[in-house]
Amino acid sequence: PTALAGRHLLKELDLTEDEFRGLVELAAELKAAKKAGAETQHLRGRNIALIFEKTSTRTRCAFEVAAADQGASTTYLDPSGSQIGHKESVKDTARVLGRMYDAIEYRGDSQQKVEELAAHAGVPVYNGLTDDWHPTQMLADVLTMTEHCAKPLTEVSFAYLGDARFNMGNSYLVTGALLGMDVRLVAPKEYWPAEEVVDRARALAAGSGARITLTETVDEGVRGADFVATDVWVSMGEPKEVWAERIAALAPYAVTMDVLRATGNPDVKFLHCLPAFHDLGTKVGQEIHAAHDLEYLEVSDEVFESAHSVVFDEAENRMHTIKAVMVATLA
Ligand code: CP
Ligand code: NVA
Repeated sequence: PTALAGRHLLKELDLTEDEFRGLVELAAELKAAKKAGAETQHLRGRNIALIFEKTSTRTRCAFEVAAADQGASTTYLDPSGSQIGHKESVKDTARVLGRMYDAIEYRGDSQQKVEELAAHAGVPVYNGLTDDWHPTQMLADVLTMTEHCAKPLTEVSFAYLGDARFNMGNSYLVTGALLGMDVRLVAPKEYWPAEEVVDRARALAAGSGARITLTETVDEGVRGADFVATDVWVSMGEPKEVWAERIAALAPYAVTMDVLRATGNPDVKFLHCLPAFHDLGTKVGQEIHAAHDLEYLEVSDEVFESAHSVVFDEAENRMHTIKAVMVATLA
């Protein structure tokens, strides 16, 4: 059994620096083994429940493919397809699924729900995204950083631009702090993480040597960065009425070629957890385009499609890192 056997993954703060790094290293090994056609199955006969109260492409597919590669099977419970939280309490669902499954993934709005599942399931519970945290995404982002930057993580700097008071902003801040990185959040003050999250990050940074910067100024925030990251300005579960205020507040923080140039780093790489509004070629995008006459939102198509962009490596790495989480906690 590994050091993480039987453990939950509810938020990055549950992991030590060594545990986080260990998962990224295991993911790199599993990725190399799969590419070499030499993967060993550690999860034969295991069953994993996947509860999604919000939609997903990457996270769901990552869990399903990772489980299949490792010999486990999955049950996908879609946003309307189970009794959880409607006809049955989270606590009861946890106790039922815990009798049948070896682990449970949960995506939804409240962190409290995933914590409650974990408290009562008796099997490992993985947070597949809540409003507060996106820990499996962070493992993929850090794996991607190690693949695209030769420096040790403690020397790597990244700047996250946009809405920093939701899952991605919170997660980037504490992940950078945990791993001793140079992490910058670049956004208007009202989009910075809650004070409590910043305090936790500063406490971690004191031990890890991380440098933490919160700034409203793009040039200052991105200078010298190895990676520039962003996320959608309106997250799942938020009403579409907030688009107008988000666009007004965050348009100066869109990632354009000018922003990448302002890093002064010709090798700077661009990260986005996806899905992204880069060309507005989607139904939601077209509605926003009609209402606001914009060509892109959080990132320009030019950046998204450029050689700086490593977003599809990042997306692929969701699968390898989620596989590492399951193998480390269940094998
Ligand atoms: N990045 C991410 O979590 O994507 P999905 O919403 O498609 O799972
Ligand atoms: N902040 C986004 C992340 C999607 C992966 C959301 O919560 O919708």
